[in-house]
Amino acid sequence: MNPALETLALASREHPIVWPALFLGAEPHLDLISASAWQPIKPLADQCVAAGMTMADDPQGKFPTVFFLPGKSKEETLAGFARAHDLLAPGGMLIVALANTSGAARFEKELSKATPLLFSVSKNKCRAFAVGNAEPWDTSVLAAWRSLSEPRLIPDTTFTVVPGVFSVDHIDPGSALLAQHLPPSLRGEVADLGAGWGFLSHAALGKCPNISRIDLFEADARSLACARKNVTGPVEFYWHDVTSGLPGKYDHILTNPPFHTGQARDIGLGHAFLTTAARALKRGGSLYIVANRQLPYEAHLESLGLRPRLLAETGGFKVIAAM
Ligand SMILES: C[S@@+](CC[C@H](N)C(=O)[O-])C[C@H]1O[C@@H](n2cnc3c(N)ncnc32)[C@H](O)[C@@H]1O
Repeated sequence: MNPALETLALASREHPIVWPALFLGAEPHLDLISASAWQPIKPLADQCVAAGMTMADDPQGKFPTVFFLPGKSKEETLAGFARAHDLLAPGGMLIVALANTSGAARFEKELSKATPLLFSVSKNKCRAFAVGNAEPWDTSVLAAWRSLSEPRLIPDTTFTVVPGVFSVDHIDPGSALLAQHLPPSLRGEVADLGAGWGFLSHAALGKCPNISRIDLFEADARSLACARKNVTGPVEFYWHDVTSGLPGKYDHILTNPPFHTGQARDIGLGHAFLTTAARALKRGGSLYIVANRQLPYEAHLESLGLRPRLLAETGGFKVIAAM
């Protein structure tokens, strides 16, 4: 169980909560199960649904209580404070929880720049802290936070991104290396696993004229919304947990697999991506992967019956083709 979630639930037990509540960044917990849940990460959203929570894809209206479990990015967290404020009913309360290692104390201080703290609970190496909105929040602080959520372009490109998505201020050098080594002869139906804001699909469509369609599979709804703007042509978009398998078979699969779950390193996630890819390749199909040099993907590919071949190794990354 996520310790920040435990600490949020603890704060909700120790302090009176007025329902109904909205939960931004929701994860299932018995004490918070009746909150409306907003969760852009598909595997976590699936867990909320399985636990019986009501999902709010685009929360509107005003709630007496807003719970907030922020993601990894500072900008996203501050923008989330402003968003939570805008969803609070008059006299409502916002409770936020973060791990100490994710900057709980720093963000508590940031939130108190807009309005005074009501309480703070420290437990499980995490902190939950609350503010109310009986009094107006500082409008200039709110305006600065709101501006952080605006879509923006990656410098010197036409690619749109929003805070919180992977590789938010530059093209990932690993993905750029993979794009450089994609053979222009790729043809037919292609899948992009963990497609992010769409860089690899965009590059493949630009380089490989015989691709008939690319399906972009991505767990983060915010990334996928950016990909819809960044990639045009014969493409389909899927808000999808790649570890659950794919709905079809492909001539080629491209991936820069994730190897973190939340903040923690998780090689198993990269392996699960490769397993899904191996199962979804058509006979004679091929898989193109980029990874950090030290990640031991070759042995896993061999265990899946694929033959990995090193296409490039530079700048801490390796590009592997497997068929
Ligand atoms: C290393 S990034 C690569 C992003 C993109 N392909 C690029 O090159 O910029 C990995 C991506 O996988 C996504 N991801 C993580 N877990 C996932 C899952 N279970 N299913 C689908 N996508 C996932 C992340 O949100 C992230 O966008």
